[in-house]
Amino acid sequence: MLIQIKDLTKTYQRHNGAINAVDSLSFDIDKGSFITITGPSGSGKTTLLLIIGGLLRPTSGRMIYGGNELNLDSDEEMAIFRSNHIGFVMQSFALVPYLTAVENIMIALNVKNKNKAENRNRAIELLKWVGLDDRTTHYPRELSAGQQQRVAIARALANSPDLLLADEPTGNLDPGLSREILSILSKINKEQKTTIVMVTHSPVAAEYGDVKIHLQEGKLLGHSIMKKVFVS
Ligand SMILES: Nc1ncnc2c1ncn2[C@@H]1O[C@H](COP(=O)(O)OP(=O)(O)O)[C@@H](O)[C@H]1O
Ligand SMILES: [Mg+2]
Repeated sequence: MLIQIKDLTKTYQRHNGAINAVDSLSFDIDKGSFITITGPSGSGKTTLLLIIGGLLRPTSGRMIYGGNELNLDSDEEMAIFRSNHIGFVMQSFALVPYLTAVENIMIALNVKNKNKAENRNRAIELLKWVGLDDRTTHYPRELSAGQQQRVAIARALANSPDLLLADEPTGNLDPGLSREILSILSKINKEQKTTIVMVTHSPVAAEYGDVKIHLQEGKLLGHSIMKKVFVS
């Protein structure tokens, strides 16, 4: 078991009243699993992902990571949790436009290790992993959308996260490029044993998961375990 999520609720106050974007959600994230989360727009998928990644504080609830209860109210503890364990991939890639592919990854590595040569080698190794070692010195604008998303995935893997969180990673890509990205995520899950939680609109993309969760109005509707791939 990697993370236990217990009774998580996030309430937003809005001019027309309060809304529970995430409503008393409980589920387990098994080590090595690939969880896909589907649900209509506004069902709380992004909110849930941000809470799991320690970027957003829930209104109430608990998260237990590797058997230890996280202090969700401590920004400092959550920042450490995030930098030690979490990688994020967003729909919009969020690459720095004036840095090359390799430099975009090096800035993520530079937080922990100041050795530039080591970081460059590691960044190139990561680009190899996503099949982009021939694009290391290209700028984001010189890369296709699919290639930019692969750089973003390599950056998310920079600090060897235990958990990779992906929010609609194929949302801006056509079906062919989407398959490419999904098979890279699958490979990361199988070969690097990285646990993945991926939010997606697409039923096709959701098929890549071994556990499928469906959200509606912040509540968990379906939770089906398809197959067990890897348990340690
Ligand atoms: N910062 C915010 N302030 C107020 N309401 C928000 C905020 N973020 C999200 N919401 C609301 O919470 C609900 C869930 O949003 P979100 O998690 O973005 O859903 P999804 O990713 O499934 O589209 C929506 O009703 C949305 O309008
Ligand atoms: Mg969203």
